[in-house]
Amino acid sequence: MTTVATAPTADPRHSAPGSPWPASARALPGGELAIGGVGLADAADRFGTPLYLLDEAELRTRARAYRTALPHAEVCYAAKAFLCSAVADWVAEEGLGLDVCSAGELRLAAAAGFPAQRMILHGNAKSPEELRLALRLRVGRIVIDGLAEIPRLAALAVAEEPQRVLVRVLPGVAAGHHAAVRTGVAGQKFGFPIDGGDAAEAVRRVLAQPGLRLAGLHCHLGSQITEVAPFLAAIDRIAALLAGIRAEHGVELPELDLGGGHGVAYRPGEPELDLADFARLVTARLAAACAEHGLRVPRLLVEPGRAVVGPAGVAVYRVLAVKHGTDGRVFAAVDGGMSDNPRPALYGSRYTARLVGRASTAAPVAVDVVGRHCEAGDVLIPDAELPADLRPGDLLAVPVAGAYQLSMASGYNLVGRPAVLAVRDGRARQLIRRETVEDFLRREVGR
Ligand code: LLP
Repeated sequence: MTTVATAPTADPRHSAPGSPWPASARALPGGELAIGGVGLADAADRFGTPLYLLDEAELRTRARAYRTALPHAEVCYAAKAFLCSAVADWVAEEGLGLDVCSAGELRLAAAAGFPAQRMILHGNAKSPEELRLALRLRVGRIVIDGLAEIPRLAALAVAEEPQRVLVRVLPGVAAGHHAAVRTGVAGQKFGFPIDGGDAAEAVRRVLAQPGLRLAGLHCHLGSQITEVAPFLAAIDRIAALLAGIRAEHGVELPELDLGGGHGVAYRPGEPELDLADFARLVTARLAAACAEHGLRVPRLLVEPGRAVVGPAGVAVYRVLAVKHGTDGRVFAAVDGGMSDNPRPALYGSRYTARLVGRASTAAPVAVDVVGRHCEAGDVLIPDAELPADLRPGDLLAVPVAGAYQLSMASGYNLVGRPAVLAVRDGRARQLIRRETVEDFLRREVGR
């Protein structure tokens, strides 16, 4: 069973070495678990389940850790991992920029007061409206992801005030936890391959547009990368391209955005990307690769999403049914599932769970924690280790729930998306209310 330390470790990002729980996690008497000083069973009683809690201090600590580890770099939080106004405030206050990839993310962040200058707009299919909005709000940088986008954006921009852009390149480095998120190689929809000259051609066309100012290159290798090596390989490839650009155009590009993809531990003992190693090795390799080509070292940008928000989130579900199969399998069905967390069904992502709100001395057994949706594939956690006396009414807490769960949540079976709380210093405040059937009905405008 997952244990939770009662005292923080030297690394402020962890409650215990290898623990997936936020540093604030405290086991309380009676099987209760507190996050940010708020008891999970207590919160479940007050706000209902499924419930998502965001540990504000954990998120801020993680954001700050990036600033400290990479003081010379610009750290942009990837909003796609999870965005709401409070999160926009927290990352802005911690001095991060923001990576947005839709008019929705852009507008929500702008409405929350996030400075557009500190935003980077991504997307392989930006609509004309999105581009216009980005220019109107004066977004800091737009990442070019296709040749057709270059004249389209240039036509909207004005030469007197050129739009800063980055060109997204594919260094040919494969990394990431699943084929669906490996974006550093050719053969998928993003970016321009360096091999074969597509990236160089994109650079050529951008430089020919007076309305665009090429600030640098961008790459995003993939997600949930736990080794530094792929980033180093990408730097070598990109430095060679930067040298080629200088040779052809006489320009040295001032920025290099290495994207995100920094892996976290979802289960006890799993590897994660070591931020200190990443900072040290990437900085050194960039300096060395640039020195080799006689280039000035470009300013580094990074775009972590999961590593900032993932471990700050905890999901709480109530067990609605426990079924004992004839083959000895135990299924515990909870009141959420693939509608609030599609990651296990999409990528085979593995999680851990812990009984909260009740102490149990029963031996741990393997339990398949399944969702409530009408698909046999709606399995949240196969073979979770949970007490043999697990029963309806029990509460299960799942750590590392902050990234790509709520942001990918759906309206499947009209169950409604969960409420989101911020917890801090023993206080819980609701950030997003639960989605109800009234919300679904309100969207219907005809019959
Ligand atoms: N920058 C760009 C251009 C990206 O496309 C992404 C993620 C990030 C930064 C942030 O990556 P992170 O540090 O959060 O890994 N739904 C998948 C992950 C998709 C990631 C898409 N792009 C999952 O749940 O694992």
